Amino acid sequence: MNLFNKSFLVAALVCCASMQVFSQEDNSAKNLPTDYLTPAFHAGRRQALRDMMPANSVTVIFAYPERVFSKDVNYVYHPNPDMYYFSGYKEPDAVLLIFKDMQADGDSSYNELFFVRHRDPQREQWTGRRLGVTGVKKQLGFKRVYNSEEFSKFPIDFKKFKTIIYDDLPDDASGDLKDLVSTFKTKAEIQNVDKGLLSDLSVISRYATPKNIDRIITYIKPRLDGEAYKKSELIQELVNKPDSATLMDVKAKINANPSGLSLFEKFTVELRGVKTPEELVLLKKSVEISSIAHAEAMRAVTPKMSERELEGIMRYVHNKYGAEDEGYPPIVGAGGNGCILHYEENTATKVENQLVLMDVGAEYHGYSADVTRTFPANGKFTDEQKAIYQIIYDAQEEVFKLCKDGVKYGDLETKTREVLSSRLIQLGIIKDAKEVGTYYPHGVSHHLGLDVHDKGEYGGNLKAGMVITVEPGIYIPAGSPCDKKWWNIGVRIEDDVLIGQTEGTLLSKDAPRKWQDVEKTVADKSIFDLAHLPELK
Ligand code: GLY
Ligand code: MN
Ligand code: MN
Repeated sequence: MNLFNKSFLVAALVCCASMQVFSQEDNSAKNLPTDYLTPAFHAGRRQALRDMMPANSVTVIFAYPERVFSKDVNYVYHPNPDMYYFSGYKEPDAVLLIFKDMQADGDSSYNELFFVRHRDPQREQWTGRRLGVTGVKKQLGFKRVYNSEEFSKFPIDFKKFKTIIYDDLPDDASGDLKDLVSTFKTKAEIQNVDKGLLSDLSVISRYATPKNIDRIITYIKPRLDGEAYKKSELIQELVNKPDSATLMDVKAKINANPSGLSLFEKFTVELRGVKTPEELVLLKKSVEISSIAHAEAMRAVTPKMSERELEGIMRYVHNKYGAEDEGYPPIVGAGGNGCILHYEENTATKVENQLVLMDVGAEYHGYSADVTRTFPANGKFTDEQKAIYQIIYDAQEEVFKLCKDGVKYGDLETKTREVLSSRLIQLGIIKDAKEVGTYYPHGVSHHLGLDVHDKGEYGGNLKAGMVITVEPGIYIPAGSPCDKKWWNIGVRIEDDVLIGQTEGTLLSKDAPRKWQDVEKTVADKSIFDLAHLPELK
């Protein structure tokens, strides 16, 4: 159906009776889930942010833009996780302002303003309900809410604030969001900034140490010819005298005068990196659903099954438990396809008697799981597959022991490389530990939450309440410089772990991990064994 076709216009103009159900007053939906994050949770997160913000500052958060899927059809809208975290609002065309201090307004005052998408009964009949001003007040608990069109007229003097904190602006937005962004840029006199430069300064601010000047210079080198870099006094200081003392001096200067962007990153990394009890309820649910789905896919698999069908089984189980989406495009790769880290095509029409690597995680009320299992489609690992699988399993077991408060996050990577390199040497696949990157080309862990690669601190120590992945992998594509018998083996096992004071909790334990349990599960019956559909004509 085309939103702009003639029948829509006619219906919109003439058929007012049919609009009653979408009128301004009645916006209710029935039988909704009852476990959404509460307005009190979101208000608590805004207050936590306010507590971190410097004196006389404001934080400005925009909705993500809508994205075109095909001509007049958009992708299903996915909210900006930061907007969702601080407000619970899941629609486009909005801007949220959080003030450090109360702002006087005649006889009253406020410390947050929310400009949201206006209601539109005709559009709502086609594209779904909108909360609008009244809904945002009633359901999300905000007091000062306006239609987005009112932002331009609203008397806010951004120049009076010492610091304006904001994320990357959605400069490519269209429609109402474009207007909101351009109003903000005008009112706050935001210059167009070089995002690469800002991001590089932020890298220096967060990661520079007296020992890594060479790595920092190698990292920024490809961009040094850019105009913004030539004009940046800080970058030029470093280029003219690339030594540790200068690096520390430049870092101190950046930190003494942080940009609004780096402050936004710093505060949200700190807040979102450690999950609250309310968030953990949802994240655990998301991981549990995904783990059940992995176990069911193992039960259902047969060598004749396609990668796409396995993907569909995962999606079905996610939806069955109420997950709205997947946290990232599902990866289902058989044999050599399992050696492609983010293989998303899932086009092989048969998985055959090969290993199948499935990296698939549900998204439940915004929170993404990230779980990978690798299993033989015929239910029996070959000796070579089992040898590689066991290395990955053992590396995970070693890393799990480190998943507790106070351990340096970087130690997880060091331990992984130690286990993988020594065992690959034992098998004769590599000769020197330095070659481990040939077969293990990614990192072992990342934070998990509203983003699959979530915001969180990577440079420091683990803290209780963080949720991270543990995901060693070995990938040996055909043609690799080792005995042919190892070719086309790709194994990753990925689990989600809640960091505790004295030990971690394995959230994804319902998906079988031990090779013996995997073989047993593949041999089990599945509810999908009975799913016979007619042959296509
Ligand atoms: N599924 C993406 C990742 O494991 O990081
Ligand atoms: Mn991952
Ligand atoms: Mn993954």
